[in-house]
This record gives sequence, structure tokens and C-alpha cells, in this order.
Amino acid sequence: MKHHSLVAAALAALVAVAAAPTANAQSTPAIPGYTMGQKSLAKAPFTLADLESLKKTLLFTEEDIRYLRMSRAILADQHEAILDVWYGFVASTPELVVYFKNNKTGAPDGAYLGAVRKRFGQWIADTADANYDQSWLDYQYEIGLRHTTPKKNKTDEADSVPLVNFRYLSALTIPVTTTLKPFLAKKGASAADVEKMHAAWVKSVLLQSILWSYPYIKDGQF
Ligand code: HEM
Repeated sequence: MKHHSLVAAALAALVAVAAAPTANAQSTPAIPGYTMGQKSLAKAPFTLADLESLKKTLLFTEEDIRYLRMSRAILADQHEAILDVWYGFVASTPELVVYFKNNKTGAPDGAYLGAVRKRFGQWIADTADANYDQSWLDYQYEIGLRHTTPKKNKTDEADSVPLVNFRYLSALTIPVTTTLKPFLAKKGASAADVEKMHAAWVKSVLLQSILWSYPYIKDGQF
């Protein structure tokens, strides 16, 4: 029962968020809380060399980077539709929507969901376009912190649970990339190109979720 009402409230919050007007790219003000490239960010505790080694282990190559770039234009005008699917998955999965719960009401926090959604949209473009430099690496560290006790809730001043439990982090790679695939196929790319874009997305999202895991891992064991 408790879970059902939580899910219903989350869906209601999402509909409200989805119905809000979206600004076009030219006039869009900075996304609140999106701080990629800003001086205020801490330096990542993992290095660009660590990143290269991780990419090697994931068989993540220049070819994958090319296919991610190809996906950028394909996905550009589909961000909201993709976010509807991803948020729909989280909202209808009680184990996940609980991480957006408002501590006072016990229901999903619509304002929190909406604020994160804007940065999630930017993340689609950033993942397709990533150049894997120090700024990108530092923002990966920041996103990890935002899923964990040091920084969860801080950016949006949410009154919510203190962390996303570790076990779900890499797991979400699968629904995110599986549900992305039909969107990759919507603009006439060949089946072979869709497969390669999809494979590149799987690798990139897994790579990022591994980097985001840093704050969960005991000192020295990452
Ligand atoms: C592959 C796995 C995941 C991806 C790609 C992902 C992606 C993102 C992105 C892009 C953001 C916004 C980062 C920013 O502030 O710029 C975010 C924040 C957030 N994600 Fe995830 N996430 C993943 C796993 C999860 C899981 C399993 C949950 C559980 C429901 C979750 C819950 C949240 C929450 C609550 C925030 C807001 C954190 C805050 O307070 O700042 N995420 N995520």
C-alpha cells in the first residue's frame, strides 16, 4: 500500500514537471546546480591515467567515442521523451523512487525530481559529447558525491534520504541504455550503426557509474 501511494504521487509529480514549458537552447539560462567546468569543483581523486586504464578494460575505444558523437544529433530533440521513459521507470519502481522521497511528507518530492531532471537532460548531451578531460573527470567525481552522503540533496536543498544505495548504481545502466535504444533508431540510422551507438552508450554509462562509485569505496580500495 505504502509503495503504491508513493508511486502514484511520483507519477503525478512527473506529469506536472513534464507539463512545464521548456526553454529553447538559445535562451536557456544556466541549469541550476549544473557545475561542469566550474572552479568550485574539487579535483577528482582518480586521474586521467586511471580513466584511460578503465576505458581499456571496458574495451571503450575511439570508435565508441565516434558512435557516441553520432548519437548526439539523433538524441538532441528527444531528451524530454527519453527523460519521460527514464523517470517513468524510476517512478514505477518503488525500490528506486524512495531515493527522491521527501522526509516530511513521505511522498516523492516533485521539486527535487524536477531539478534533477534538468541536469539529467544535460547529461544526455554531455555523455554523447564527452571529451574525457580533467573538467569532465572532476564532474564525474561531483556526480558520485551527489549520489552519496557528502552531497546528496545539497544542490537542490532537498529534504530527502541521505544516499542512493551503492548496489543500484551500476544496475541502472541496463534500464537506461536498453530504453535508449529505440530512440537511437528513430532517425534512420542503419541497424548496424544503432547497435554500435547502443554498445558505446552501455560502455560509457557503465564507465561513469564506476567513477561515481568512488565515494562508496573504502579508502585506497577504489
Ligand atoms: C547508471 C546509473 C545512473 C545514472 C546514469 C544517473 C544519472 C544521474 C544524473 C545525470 C544526475 C544529475 C547529476 C548532476 O547533478 O549534474 C543524477 C542525480 C541523482 N540520481 Fe542518479 N544516476 C544513476 C543511478 C541512480 C540510481 C540507481 C538512483 C536511485 C533512484 C539515482 C538517484 C539520483 C538522485 C536522488 C539524484 C539527485 C542527487 C542530488 O541530490 O544531487 N541515480 N543521476
